[in-house]
Amino acid sequence: MSKPLSLVVLISGHGSNLQSIIDSIEQGRVNAEIKAVISNNAEAYGLLRASKHGIASYVVNHRDFGNREDFDHQLQRILAPLGADFILLAGFMRILGSATVQAYTDKILNIHPSLLPAYKGLHTYRRALDSGEVEHGVSIHLVTAELDDGPVIMQARYPIASGDKIEDLQQKGHKLEHRMYPQLLCWLGEGKIEISGGQIFYDKTLLSKPVEFGH
Ligand code: GRF
Repeated sequence: MSKPLSLVVLISGHGSNLQSIIDSIEQGRVNAEIKAVISNNAEAYGLLRASKHGIASYVVNHRDFGNREDFDHQLQRILAPLGADFILLAGFMRILGSATVQAYTDKILNIHPSLLPAYKGLHTYRRALDSGEVEHGVSIHLVTAELDDGPVIMQARYPIASGDKIEDLQQKGHKLEHRMYPQLLCWLGEGKIEISGGQIFYDKTLLSKPVEFGH
């Protein structure tokens, strides 16, 4: 078996995606190790999930820092010795500075609840409903210095039914999200997906559009 992928997961809140990654590792579906969980919020429920599973965790509260550079420096001080293969943003509600993004080129991934490039930013479910969309989805993308930008690696879509509310979309989205990071980690571990020079390769071929994640 190849060497486990080493991961750091950044969270701000509930941490259900973190839990799905922990479960996939513990159940032997993903060959990886979570070196640490970092939260900018000391109250994040995801920190309890980490401690329940014996995973080291750190809190870097952005409010303790006068500016983004100092916050980012503290993050980097924690990240550097961990030497992770990938840094997974999973509900991490801060924007990373360009120095951090550059220090970890090709290594920072984010999961976002929309079919990017549509609906970058916050409140994606509400905005999609207000716009009368008939479908919505989830994207995992490589993080660049721009918010919710960077090449999209994988997307999952689901229909919006008439009468759907924000909670319905969230439920449909989360169900898919909880399978997406584990699937992507498998593919990264197997070398089926490779990331190099800001580009995504699938089976050694440059990805021209995101991989569609099936239901
Ligand atoms: C997810 O919907 C993710 O797409 C978005 O934030 C949410 C985090 O949920 N970036 P959780 O903390 O993993 O439960």
